[in-house]
Amino acid sequence: MSDKTFPVSKEFADQAHINHAKYEEMYARSINDPDAFWAEQANEYVTWFKPWKKTVDWSFAQADLHINWFTEAKLNVSYNCIDRHLEKRGDQTAIIWEGDSPEDTRLISYRELHKEVCQLANVLKERGVKKGDRVSLYMPMIPEATFAMLACTRIGAVHSIVFGGFSPEALSSRIQDSDCSVVITADQSMRGGKRVPLKANADVALKTCPSVHTCIVVKRGGDPIEWTEGRDVWYHDEVAKASVDCEPEQMDSEDPLFILYTSGSTGTPKGVLHTTGGYLVQAAMSHKTVFDYKDGDVYWCTADVGWVTGHTYIVYGPLTNGATTVMFEGIPSYPDMSRFWQIIDKHQVNIFYTAPTAIRSLMAAGNEPVEKTSRASLRVLGTVGEPINPEAWDWYHNVIGGGRCPIVDTWWQTETGGHMMTPLPGVNDLKPGSAMQPFFGVSPVLLDDEGNVIEGNPAAGNLAIDRPWPGAIRGVYGDPKRFYETYFAMFPGYYFTGDGARRDEDGHYWITGRVDDVLNISGHRLGTAEIEAALGLHPKVAEAAVVGYPHDLTGQGIYAYVTPMNGEVGTDELKAELIATVRKEIGPIAKVNIIQWSPGLPKTRSGKIMRRILRKIATNEIDSMGDTSTLAEPSVVDDLVAHRENT
Ligand code: WT7
Repeated sequence: MSDKTFPVSKEFADQAHINHAKYEEMYARSINDPDAFWAEQANEYVTWFKPWKKTVDWSFAQADLHINWFTEAKLNVSYNCIDRHLEKRGDQTAIIWEGDSPEDTRLISYRELHKEVCQLANVLKERGVKKGDRVSLYMPMIPEATFAMLACTRIGAVHSIVFGGFSPEALSSRIQDSDCSVVITADQSMRGGKRVPLKANADVALKTCPSVHTCIVVKRGGDPIEWTEGRDVWYHDEVAKASVDCEPEQMDSEDPLFILYTSGSTGTPKGVLHTTGGYLVQAAMSHKTVFDYKDGDVYWCTADVGWVTGHTYIVYGPLTNGATTVMFEGIPSYPDMSRFWQIIDKHQVNIFYTAPTAIRSLMAAGNEPVEKTSRASLRVLGTVGEPINPEAWDWYHNVIGGGRCPIVDTWWQTETGGHMMTPLPGVNDLKPGSAMQPFFGVSPVLLDDEGNVIEGNPAAGNLAIDRPWPGAIRGVYGDPKRFYETYFAMFPGYYFTGDGARRDEDGHYWITGRVDDVLNISGHRLGTAEIEAALGLHPKVAEAAVVGYPHDLTGQGIYAYVTPMNGEVGTDELKAELIATVRKEIGPIAKVNIIQWSPGLPKTRSGKIMRRILRKIATNEIDSMGDTSTLAEPSVVDDLVAHRENT
């Protein structure tokens, strides 16, 4: 970790929404008088149809677990993202869509967005979708994905987006878990010149989803697809027939807004539930203050709408603020390694938000693809998804930002709805790799393994939050018990993040990564349990255990220990089959890097796999294996060490 700091320039601080003094004043107020602070923010950022009774009402206790913000207030998200901007910025571009091919661009004004969203909302209504019903989106990065999100919010339907890189199996289980009645998809998605058959995948998924009566299909690639009469309809045909008027539904602040599945340390992915009022306030406020967003800025977040970053920082935050948000269909390396930087020049992007994994892979291509572009429009850079290594930070800062743009390293989670810890560009002298300080209203603590608060600096421990923030997760869909157990049981009275962190001498935070069995592969979250379950589906697998190890490009890689059935010897052919099985079950993002054949796995006498030991072997830290006295069969470890695969 680098100990260099990059001072905030006076010039930047002078023009920023928030400078150092203002941060200190606002942060103190957000902690000491949260009710007044958040009431003020809620009025500034969001238009309400009806005011709230209580700003926040909450308990993290098991018997009474609840988080309610802006109780009994009424609002509509699509109204906030569209209608209220029409008078002042009806003709302003809301979405700059950049297709996979550089020739494919579409500008969508707020007025057009209004029309598209109202029409699609009416299509959903005609198809019987009512307030509270769940709609699954399995879509490419095309404007229709945003239209679909906003159309759901307009009528109070709850969207559940499934990333287009997930498999039919993963799509099916998510549709079933939230009992969706409608799926919106596209014939194909186009990424890097390649096509992914989304509709064909959906067809497979829907065989096991009896709740789905309608599948709305956007024509994107134009390749032939199968058609189920009565169930499948073409998006454009239906929208063309629909009325352009659709009153926004009056939603309660705590009505569900969306469900987004994410991996945890145990079991299948869970449906993280976000609600309406608090989430929108947090999304809008953080978008404006963290990126120092100003009216007229062109803002680009490179995430996919299938992840929470796409929800909050491509769609809901920017549109609530009346911004121009860029939506990119393709990948950074197509047609060549210069694509991101060309898009920045083409659309004169001022604020650019991406992931360390993308930065690392572009850095590996050298400076030439960057230096042939100008990037002079850039003012603020951001990263999200995983810790950024100092080399990548320096390259991003110097080569991409020309040394003049502050970098906001934003730490947050699917569960947090929006930024939780981050530098503010007009506030901090930046430390590469540090998320610096809590965002407004966020009260982090470091806990030791017994749950005691670690005071003073420097310190390191489990990162927990001692009170709710407006964008906080409100539940695990359909499973209140799992909600409590996953987030509040480990350290009673706290929301536990699953991350470890340290606080340096100056009180600044550094996220050190997950302390649970969750992996972070290229900023994508995967549970070791779901990968193990996928491996276990292969008939030749008796048992499997999965751990992560550091990987130069993807941050972490997947290392699997597999015991073949009946003492058989593993073959390269079987390895290939296992890698394919995991890919089929979860999707291409779940790429198993290494398989070690393991005649046995290290277990306690009660049969629990000792993952700590497997992690040490994978990372070649054999000397610091720790206490192995509880092992049922110590010889198992010697064998694994002797046959470890190089990482
Ligand atoms: C996990 C959450 C929230 C958007 C993307 C990921 C890791 C996220 C950072 C960061 C270090 C980070 C954490 C967290 N993470 N941002 N700036 N520095 N680590 O959302 O899939 O819910 O994953 O990503 O480990 O717990 P997610």
